[in-house]
Amino acid sequence: CGIVAYIGSREAYPIILKGLQRLEYRGYDSAGVALLDNTLEVYKKKGKVAELEASLVGKNLHAQAGIGHTRWATHGEPSDRNAHPHRSSSGKLAMVHNGIIENFAPIKKELIGKGYDFESDTDTEVLLHFIDDIYQNDAESLEEAVRIALKRIVGAYVIILLDQDHPDTLIAARKGSPLVIGIGKNEHFLASDASPIIEYTKEVVYINDYEMAIVKPDELVLKNPGNERITPFITKLDMELAAIEKGGYAHFMLKEIFEQPTAVFDCLRGRLDPKTGSIRMGGIDKHLDLLRDAKRIILVGCGTSWHAGLLAEYVFEELCRIPVEVEYASEFRYRNPVINPGDVIIAISQSGETADTLVALENARKQGAFIFGVVNVVGSSIARLAHAGAYTHAGPEIGVASTKAFTAQLTVLYLIAIKLGYSKNAISQERYLHLINELALIPEKITEVLRSANQVKLLAERYKDARDFLFLGRGYNFPIALEGALKLKEISYIHAEGYPAAEMKHGPIALVEEGLPIVFVATKDGYHEKLVSNAQEIKARKGSVLAVISEQDSVFEEIADATIAVPAADEILAPLLSVVPLQLLAYYTGLAKGLDVDKPRNLAKSVTVE
Ligand code: G6P
Repeated sequence: CGIVAYIGSREAYPIILKGLQRLEYRGYDSAGVALLDNTLEVYKKKGKVAELEASLVGKNLHAQAGIGHTRWATHGEPSDRNAHPHRSSSGKLAMVHNGIIENFAPIKKELIGKGYDFESDTDTEVLLHFIDDIYQNDAESLEEAVRIALKRIVGAYVIILLDQDHPDTLIAARKGSPLVIGIGKNEHFLASDASPIIEYTKEVVYINDYEMAIVKPDELVLKNPGNERITPFITKLDMELAAIEKGGYAHFMLKEIFEQPTAVFDCLRGRLDPKTGSIRMGGIDKHLDLLRDAKRIILVGCGTSWHAGLLAEYVFEELCRIPVEVEYASEFRYRNPVINPGDVIIAISQSGETADTLVALENARKQGAFIFGVVNVVGSSIARLAHAGAYTHAGPEIGVASTKAFTAQLTVLYLIAIKLGYSKNAISQERYLHLINELALIPEKITEVLRSANQVKLLAERYKDARDFLFLGRGYNFPIALEGALKLKEISYIHAEGYPAAEMKHGPIALVEEGLPIVFVATKDGYHEKLVSNAQEIKARKGSVLAVISEQDSVFEEIADATIAVPAADEILAPLLSVVPLQLLAYYTGLAKGLDVDKPRNLAKSVTVE
C-alpha cells in the first residue's frame, strides 16, 4: 500500500491526490483520503486513484491537513468499505495503515466484547478502534494512546492518524514498512517513499522502526517507544522530478525498458574504468578481505530480484570459485537455515522494502551474517540494514514489472564478481580485462537491441491469443528464461513457464502441440548446439519456436518460426542483452491485449507485507 499525508498552509487535497498517483505502483485496488477542515471528512472508493478523483469532482475539499491511501488488499476484499482511511466510532479519528497486524483477531474479540462495531474486514480498523479505546479511557493524549497500543501489536505497519480535536497534529509510527517525512517551510509531507515529496522539498527524514513522529506544520518531533525524543536526521534527496514522470512514453514500463542503456551506464559510472582496468566500489573496497575470503555467498531476494540472484550464482561460482546458494527470502526466513561465520549474504531488492527480504536479513544479521545490499532505492530499509552495499543507480522504477532495475542489479553483481574473482586470482588478468571491456560496451549494445522493438511488437501481436508460453534456456540464459516467463505472465496474464531447456523432456514437453509458442533464449554460448537439438525436438512436435539469438546464427534462423537477434557478447554477459526482447515481448503482448501494463491486476511493486 501507499500512504501520503500533508499538514501545513496549502490545500492538502491536491497534494495528497498527486502523491497517491505517484504511489499507485504500491497497490491500486482502492483509494481514499481523510481531510480535516473544521470537521473530519473521509472519502474512499474501490478501484484506482483516478476513480476516487472522479468521485470527488465538484466537492468542497478545503483542508490544510489530510491523509491518503492507495491499497493492496490483505485483510478483506477490495471494496469501498475496506478502503482506507478508516474512522473511529466517534468519527473524530481517521487512520491509514500500510502493513499487516498479525494479532488482530484476539484484539478484535476484546473490542467486540466492549461493544465496538466494525464496518470493514480490515486489520487496520481493529488497530484504530484499539487506539481509540485507549485514547478514551487510559491515555492523556492520542500520542500516548498510540504508544500504548503499539506495544501490543505484532506485525508490520506504518500508520498515520488525524484527530479532529487536534487539527494541527498528525501522529505517525513505523515498524517494518517505510515512511519518509519531507520538511517544508511551515509544512510537512509524509509518504511511503520520496516520490510525492520531491516536488515540494528535498529535505527529508527517513523514519526508523519503532519511531513515532508527532508532526505539526512547524515542528517535527520524533520519539522512541520509551517516549524519549530522538534528533531527526535530515537527508537531502538526490532525485529529480523528471525521473518519476513518463517523459513522452506511453507507459512507465516502456520508458524504463528504453532507459536501460542509461541505467547500466549510470551503474558503471565512476566504478568501471576500462582505461586503467579498474573496478572501484566503495562498499566492496572497504570489506575486500572479508568478501574475498567468504566461505559461501547466499543470495536472497524475491521475484525478479531472485532471478538476478540465480544468474549471480552462475557468475560468482564461475568467476570467484566461491560456493553460492540462492534463496527465496520468504523461504529463507522461516526454514532455520545454517549460517556460519564466513558466510556473506547478498540481498537483492529494487525497492529495499520487500517485507520477506527485510525480515530474512534481520534474522540472518542476528545470527552474525555479514549482509551486503544490492538495492535501488537510496535510504530504503534494506539499504540501511545492510553492513555494506552497492546501489544499482537505475533511477526510480515505477512500472510494476521490474525491467531496468533488473539489468542494473545484474550489472552490480557482475562488477562484484569480476572484482572479487580477480582479487582472488580465480580469473586471469587477461580474462579480467576482457570482461571489463565487454561490460563497458553493454549500454551501446542494449541500445542496438532496442532497435528491434517493432519486430518484437509484431511477434507479440501474432501470439497474443496463445493460452500458454514456454521459455527455455540453459546456463547463463536459464535465469533469463525464468524472467521472460515471469514478465509475460505478470503483464499479459498468459500462463507462462520458464524451464532449463534440457529439463523440458522431463515434463513440459507433454504440453507441446501445434502452435504452442516456445521461446528459446539462445544466444551463442557453450550450450548452443544442445539448444539447437532441444529446438528441433519442439519442431518435431509442431510447436512454434521463437528465439532470441546472436547475430548471424543461421542454424537457429532456419529452425525457428521467428528470431530476434542481439549483438554478440561474452556469454557471461549476454543475459544483459537477451532479457531485453523478452521484456518487450511482455510489454507489447499486454498492450495488444488492451491491459494496463503499468498496473497489472493483483500485483504491487513494493510488497511490504509477507
Ligand atoms: C514484487 C514486484 C516484482 C519484484 C519483487 C521483489 O513482486 O512486483 O517486480 O521483483 O516484488 O521486489 P524488490 O523491490 O525486493 O526487488
